[in-house]
Amino acid sequence: VPSDIRYEDLVITRSEHIQVKPKLDATTLRFGAVYSDHMLQASWREELGWTAPSIDPLSSVSLHPCAQVLHYAVQCFEGMKCYKGKDGRLRLFRPDMNMDRFAHSADRLTLPQFDKVELLECIKELLRIERDWVPDEEGFSIYIRPLLIFVTHPFLGVCPTREAMLFVILSPVGPYFPSGLKPIKLYVETQNGRAFPGGVGDTKIGGNYAPTLLPQLNGTQLGCSQVLFVLQDGNPGGGLVGESSSMNVFFLIQQDGENRELELVTPPLDGLILPGITRDSVLTLARGFGNMKVSERPLRFNELEGAAENGRLLEVFGTGTACMVQPVMGLVMKDQTEIVVPFNNEAAEYWLAKPPGTAGLPH
Ligand code: COI
Repeated sequence: VPSDIRYEDLVITRSEHIQVKPKLDATTLRFGAVYSDHMLQASWREELGWTAPSIDPLSSVSLHPCAQVLHYAVQCFEGMKCYKGKDGRLRLFRPDMNMDRFAHSADRLTLPQFDKVELLECIKELLRIERDWVPDEEGFSIYIRPLLIFVTHPFLGVCPTREAMLFVILSPVGPYFPSGLKPIKLYVETQNGRAFPGGVGDTKIGGNYAPTLLPQLNGTQLGCSQVLFVLQDGNPGGGLVGESSSMNVFFLIQQDGENRELELVTPPLDGLILPGITRDSVLTLARGFGNMKVSERPLRFNELEGAAENGRLLEVFGTGTACMVQPVMGLVMKDQTEIVVPFNNEAAEYWLAKPPGTAGLPH
């Protein structure tokens, strides 16, 4: 029987070159630019299963140029976070959901399955070793990036995974955008699609992120920090609202009817968007507030435009592990027309008053 990943097999080799840690706060941390000293790794082969996992000094990886990941993008990843509380304790944010999604993405690409509980135990050990790397400032955390790649070689045919490698690296982070949690603008992308029915929009694979780069670049030129993908599916209503490049999106809309009911709308998990864990938390919290209807439903762009025209589009925000809860203040079209979105002044003023490059959270 091929062996699985087991925490009891974990082999730890401590780095002899512990880095001098930068200040783990807003003055130095750019998202994803700083890494801790160690990484977790394991390899898998079809006949043998998983090797014993190990924690080793962070190092480069050597791959044969024929490794399939380099050609066909056969890889999946996760983004999860661990926080250090005022009590000094480390707390992972809903990591079982990340493990489930990691397994789902792996399955879709024939990448190997793994014991989710055991892998998580290994990740916890990595965090214990690197606990000094976990920031304790509010709004800061350590970002955990598990990565699974198909490395069989030498063979250039497109075939199911026979050999794979797993890595988990850690990166202390604050807010995702250099502007902190100040409201951002989204570029409405209606031409370059990202996900489509029956595709892989609900998996966390590199192939879902590479196609966001060009739209992102186009958006940057119009002052936008991210892209809102709107799928032209041939149905009336101006395209189906999906998600942003690395966030799910929420819209607070006041309904047109008699009672002007508030509705918080986010697109449903129909295979076209990533099942975000922060999305799930926001839905659960909002349902608990009891002062608005909370809907996971298809949303067409014309409805958004209509609501904005009548002053009924009250708030827009994105959610994501990396992006947390990110306010949005505008939706910008290709022709540079803009749907201006109101935002919470108090919170925004806090952010707008901060000099560029600084980040943190209001207390
Ligand atoms: C995340 O939110 O964890 C992401 O993966 C987004 C991005 C950094 C790719």
